[in-house]
Amino acid sequence: MNILAIETSCDETSAAIVRDGRHVLANVIASQIDIHQKYGGVVPEVASRQHILYITPVLNETLETAGLDWNEIDAIAVTNGPGLAGALLVGVNAAKGLAFARQKPLIGVNHLESHIYANWLIPSQAEDSPPPEFPLVCLVVSGGHTELVLIEGHGDYRMLGKTQDDAAGEAFDKVARVMGLGYPGGPLLEQAAYGGNPQRFPFTRAWLKGTYDFSFSGLKTAVLRKVEEYQAAPPKVAPFSGVVTDTRPLPQPPRPLPIKLGDKGQDPWEEQTTDKVVRESERPVSKLPLADLAASFQAVVVEVLATKTVQAAEEYGARQILVAGGVAANKVLRSAIAERATKRGIPFGYPPFLFCTDNAAMVASAAYFRLTTTNPALAIPDWSLDIHPNWELVR
Ligand code: KG4
Ligand code: ZN
Repeated sequence: MNILAIETSCDETSAAIVRDGRHVLANVIASQIDIHQKYGGVVPEVASRQHILYITPVLNETLETAGLDWNEIDAIAVTNGPGLAGALLVGVNAAKGLAFARQKPLIGVNHLESHIYANWLIPSQAEDSPPPEFPLVCLVVSGGHTELVLIEGHGDYRMLGKTQDDAAGEAFDKVARVMGLGYPGGPLLEQAAYGGNPQRFPFTRAWLKGTYDFSFSGLKTAVLRKVEEYQAAPPKVAPFSGVVTDTRPLPQPPRPLPIKLGDKGQDPWEEQTTDKVVRESERPVSKLPLADLAASFQAVVVEVLATKTVQAAEEYGARQILVAGGVAANKVLRSAIAERATKRGIPFGYPPFLFCTDNAAMVASAAYFRLTTTNPALAIPDWSLDIHPNWELVR
């Protein structure tokens, strides 16, 4: 069975065709990162407009890459929540139009469920591999969610714990921002942390003992305070000798801290510009120990996530541990879970790197297992399918 899927929940316009829920025949992603980068985050209205521009070329390229025509497509799947309302609407309307015109089943998919099913995907070039085994514990860590879920079978989810405040990806993005690293923060922070000393700043771990819940907002504030401490220190000015002896690029000075909207009538997301020309040699040398700070922050997030995930897997007798969502691309997190899981003899799996962040292949996979296991009624299209911007995986 070939399912064509569409994903437009945030800032990636993606379409994919997946055979039997696992084999990716095509997965096309048009990223909007370049557009949102200058605002320091996703601007919902801009995202919706870009989806409208990209959706048709992305769909055409998907069919072309898979080498299939419409007769060989068995169903259309689409993310219909959670996500940005305007962005979701573009994907849902495109999917409805296609399903109606081509007389195909139409399957709405929960975005978090699709992230979990990224673990079932096999890239087109890769060898076949056995599917994940139930019962399993999956740590879902994305830009908007951090949830620890017990999965006892297809579609059978039980929430073990979730974040009480910021999502893990959100914490990465916000901390990266105050450190002046840019957007999206997760991969940039992971890069900045490389080679840094994770023990230099012993930030407090929010264990929330006796629960599988998480909290990252205290940590985020602690990093912010540390950055402010460094920024308050008088800047070291490199003496101007008139002769450039050191040609290495200067370390990036931290960006100005975000100003709340309306504080000074400025757009907080815009870079502040200045007319004053600062001679290269007179620039303050940033004293922010970027690598150590990034590594110390990352170590705390990773330790709490990995420890609780493996504890939960042990308590609930999981036969497998999975990780899903954008933060699952983080190699430090993957190896921390792998190390703890190996010690307890529990197999650990994670999606191919390409399928950790938003993509449509994972949507096709989730739809396939819904249609063929728990919800065969989905074969009859429901034209009232709507978006659910706040849809929770487990209510
Ligand atoms: O799943 P995703 O693509 O979108 C949502 O559904 O939210 O996740 C995006 C999040 C962002 O917060 C991004 O910074 C984070 O995943 N992320 C990472 C890494 N790659 C992406 N966080 C930490 N380390 C990474 N390597
Ligand atoms: Zn996502």
